[in-house]
Amino acid sequence: MTLAAPSQQLTAAGRPLCHRPYARLAARRRNGPRLASVASRFSPTTVAAAAAAASSSSGPLSLFSPSKINLFLRITARRPDGFHELASIFHVIDLGENMTFEELPEGGAGSAAKDELLCDAEGMPTDATNLAVKALDLFRSKMPAGSPAATRFFRITLGKNVPHGAGLGGGSANAATALWAANEVAGRPASAAQLAAWGGEIGSDISVFFSKGAAYCTGRGELVEDVKPPLPLGTPMLLVKPPAGLSTPAVFRALDLGSRSAADPLRLSAGLRNLGRGSRELCVNDLEPPAFLLMPELEEVKERLAKERGVDASFMTGSGSTVVALGNGRESSKSLSPPSWFLEEEKYKDWFWSPARLIARAEGEWYRGPE
Ligand code: C5P
Repeated sequence: MTLAAPSQQLTAAGRPLCHRPYARLAARRRNGPRLASVASRFSPTTVAAAAAAASSSSGPLSLFSPSKINLFLRITARRPDGFHELASIFHVIDLGENMTFEELPEGGAGSAAKDELLCDAEGMPTDATNLAVKALDLFRSKMPAGSPAATRFFRITLGKNVPHGAGLGGGSANAATALWAANEVAGRPASAAQLAAWGGEIGSDISVFFSKGAAYCTGRGELVEDVKPPLPLGTPMLLVKPPAGLSTPAVFRALDLGSRSAADPLRLSAGLRNLGRGSRELCVNDLEPPAFLLMPELEEVKERLAKERGVDASFMTGSGSTVVALGNGRESSKSLSPPSWFLEEEKYKDWFWSPARLIARAEGEWYRGPE
């Protein structure tokens, strides 16, 4: 694998630079303007006008919805409620998508009674079962009865870029971004800590996005302790994922507690900080054995990537099916591009792949996507 400057990323075999089945809309948006400003009231516009209005500071709120990797993931116990206790360093990364929030009209005959979600990904539910819509429902339920925020509905446009069933927390990030957006529009009645606690009510991986980017997570994953990023921000990585995703419950069901690592998670955390880069010993994931049982090709790609020059560690993130090849933080001006075997071998033809980097957010601001 080569460490290439961004301008050199174009690679061989007639394959696109970045194979992202969901990328069309989002790729365009990645190059477009990114807004952090908020209008307290949005003028009613059509969906097409909403996209155009996203370039104006008085238009709909446009936010980057990132994703995450687990630098290590230890499962510490099985709980009586069927969930598992974990201990993990979650880190936010810059693979993500744009979400636009347009306030729907309130009051009077044309008043909205539910959120609308417009999404370009086939098969993605856009009703109240979608995690982003659930997050808006949750936010309204937390607002004082009779306040505008308790009855404010949104039209969300979402160009999906982060694959589903990937262990990247893409849906959870959409929910976290929706909570952040609703709170901004409402004038920030809730703190980030409150939003994190609320997020934990609807999913295990939502709260982590309310850290500054790096977090030591315990419980189901919803107990989030902000930590200083253990590795240099900008550390490059390559993400690869087969077309099929893995179901989190199925991976947990296949977990044999006897096959776990014996490493103390606090030592793993300290080890990463001291070393300032990943390693095979530190980047452990207890969900790899069950995931590799269900999808043996993940173990093969992990081992092949681990041998590549410029890769400090390769490991699965979350419950898979994405495998991360982590580059060297000291080379953070470079990005990792896929090795030639990955680009050329028929069996990887339909795999998703993307370069990504570790990112953080500033106090009071949301994450920003790649420049
Ligand atoms: O919270 P989330 O919706 O991601 O969890 C999906 C499923 O994964 C849970 O219903 C549970 O079966 C399993 N899970 C678990 N322990 C966790 C997180 C998830 O067993 N910490």
